[in-house]
Amino acid sequence: MPVDLLIHNAAQLLTVPGPVPGLGPQRGAAQREIGLLEDGTVAVAEGRIVAVGPTADLRQRFSARESIDATGQVVLPGFVDAHTHAVFAGERAGEFEQRLAGASYLEIMAAGGGIMSTVRATRAASLEQLIAESRPRLDAMLAHGTTTAEVKTGYGLNTADELKMLSAIRRLNEEHPLDLIPTFLGAHAVPSEYAGRADEYVDLIIQEMLPAVSDQGSAVGSPQSAICNLQSAIFCDVFCEEGAFTLAQSRRILEAAKRLGLGLKIHADEFTALGGAALAAELGATSADHLAATPEEDLRRLAAAGTIAVLLPGTTFGLGQTHYADARRMVERGVPVALGSDLNPGTCWCESMPFIIALACRYLRLTPAEAIVAATLNAAYASGVGDRVGSLEVGKQADIIILALPDYRHLAYRFGSNPVQTVIKAGRVVVQH
Ligand code: NIG
Ligand code: FE
Repeated sequence: MPVDLLIHNAAQLLTVPGPVPGLGPQRGAAQREIGLLEDGTVAVAEGRIVAVGPTADLRQRFSARESIDATGQVVLPGFVDAHTHAVFAGERAGEFEQRLAGASYLEIMAAGGGIMSTVRATRAASLEQLIAESRPRLDAMLAHGTTTAEVKTGYGLNTADELKMLSAIRRLNEEHPLDLIPTFLGAHAVPSEYAGRADEYVDLIIQEMLPAVSDQGSAVGSPQSAICNLQSAIFCDVFCEEGAFTLAQSRRILEAAKRLGLGLKIHADEFTALGGAALAAELGATSADHLAATPEEDLRRLAAAGTIAVLLPGTTFGLGQTHYADARRMVERGVPVALGSDLNPGTCWCESMPFIIALACRYLRLTPAEAIVAATLNAAYASGVGDRVGSLEVGKQADIIILALPDYRHLAYRFGSNPVQTVIKAGRVVVQH
């Protein structure tokens, strides 16, 4: 049978299969199921995976228009980055230096810097400038093996500029090989013009912004219909933190978003345990993110609700801190764990999921196999697209990466260089190093 592409003779091919019913993220012991096949081959036709199996078998069944020899290499699904702020203008190297000199992230934010500094730059940028500044970051993500990424708004903080950010995400999704999943994060910070009037800003989010971002288009009804035709936000997120939004404000916003049919996410317990993870579980959120300070009982709630923990070790590292989220405990409690870069100009300017995996194994105490599932299948579910990407299974989009490594554990073992040799997006080679 003729196919478009055959990637053959992989030393290790990781299919990262989903759970038996084919639905939902992996958790507990299944979080380490990478579906390892030695001397494996994957066949692709019309942008989709049509077969995965032993090389000898597939080479007999298929003749390919194009073939890639992966001898001595590792083949796996493209990474899904489940949490980014990749679209922004400007930079904050000055704040980085202030932090090195002892100022804390929350102190800088309280003094009008931090997120508000990027808000000023993003508001001042035209749509074209915002796209032009963000594009190189997407290029770098793709070069490091990310084929799908969630991207948040949250540097506009008024209706027009939040919509401008969504337009930038939509335009980049159309023009760039990376698939982008847009999340509305109007509740990223209380903008300075609302200083001391946070509840009024929450009213604005609920009454004006949420309706505007959820009905920009028509095609999107549920997180599952993401990837193409992104007219509206797919998810709504809130930064629930001291100096940002209280638990009560977070609840109001997320409940309003839920009524509009948006999927829910929350920045919870990054620095302070305010109860954001419990709120996520109660509201049936798709994910609760950060969770560096989450109490034990809230982990149980996340497990019971099936809410995915999106962990962001790059942020803890980027801030020069040492208190990482305890993913080992989460896996043991049955919480599905996903990974994201948190790429943003304040705490973590990192486009590399391989580096995030290296951190996750050292500081979150995940095994290499668990970290790979977290950065592919579980991250896809956390982004609402687990039915389409995140594994090398028949019928899924052919988002495939080839690593110049002899063994998948080297992905975590080595760090600081880019192990990604080839990136295939929807069946097309888009990066070849
Ligand atoms: O996830 N915590 C809030 N948001 C980002 C930081 C964004 C910024 O500082 O610009 C985060 O760490
Ligand atoms: Fe974030």
